[in-house]
Amino acid sequence: TAPAAVIVAIDGPSGTGKSSTSKAVAAKLGLSYLDTGAQYRAITWWMLNNGIDVADAAAVANASGKPSIESGTDPSAPTITVDGQDASGPIRTQEVTSRVSAVSAVPEVRARITELQRTIAAGAENGIVVEGRDIGTTVLPGADLKVFLTASAGARAARRSGELKGADVAATREALIKRDAADSSRKTSPLAKADDAVEVDTTELTLHQVIECVVTLIEGKQAAK
Ligand code: DC
Repeated sequence: TAPAAVIVAIDGPSGTGKSSTSKAVAAKLGLSYLDTGAQYRAITWWMLNNGIDVADAAAVANASGKPSIESGTDPSAPTITVDGQDASGPIRTQEVTSRVSAVSAVPEVRARITELQRTIAAGAENGIVVEGRDIGTTVLPGADLKVFLTASAGARAARRSGELKGADVAATREALIKRDAADSSRKTSPLAKADDAVEVDTTELTLHQVIECVVTLIEGKQAAK
């Protein structure tokens, strides 16, 4: 018989290996995958394209229902579209990265995106890995497994600079610390570890080791279900 469908929440700050880990474990176990950060980036990109002042929370709230955002949940080829347009490239620009915390702090934006996330998770018949900041605490508090990934600021900055191909580590570190502080201190569902989440410090672990650790945790939940 097929393993029980499990819902897995993977949260943590940037640069902890959330995306790489989540995609790999979902692919390995045949689960769907949802990158919730990509959804917040997509709505931010739309706001910037449509002349919305992202520092104006009321303007962002007013526009929050306008774009149509769709996420493809195949872990080997995740997609994100805004009004039918592929947004996977533009959502990774420095401009979007530097504005996404402001947009994602607006309660109307969170309510809209949270609803999308819950609908996608409910429709994933074989189970799903959902990665973000508030999945275990707010979006899917009933998840079968909650993982909270951490790493030292130095390790996170080094990983991000590597991804950005030679970006300055010190500058990346500053930007990353600033974004995590904003995401952790916002009023509406901040980045936080759920009480029942398993914390995994990835500072001294290879990506392969983190993947193995999370796969083992998920298999334990599937066996218990
Ligand atoms: O994971 P990421 O770096 O792509 O996320 C981009 C931003 O989106 C992050 O700085 C905060 C926001 N975000 C959020 O508020 N809640 C989530 N569940 C996921 C991301």
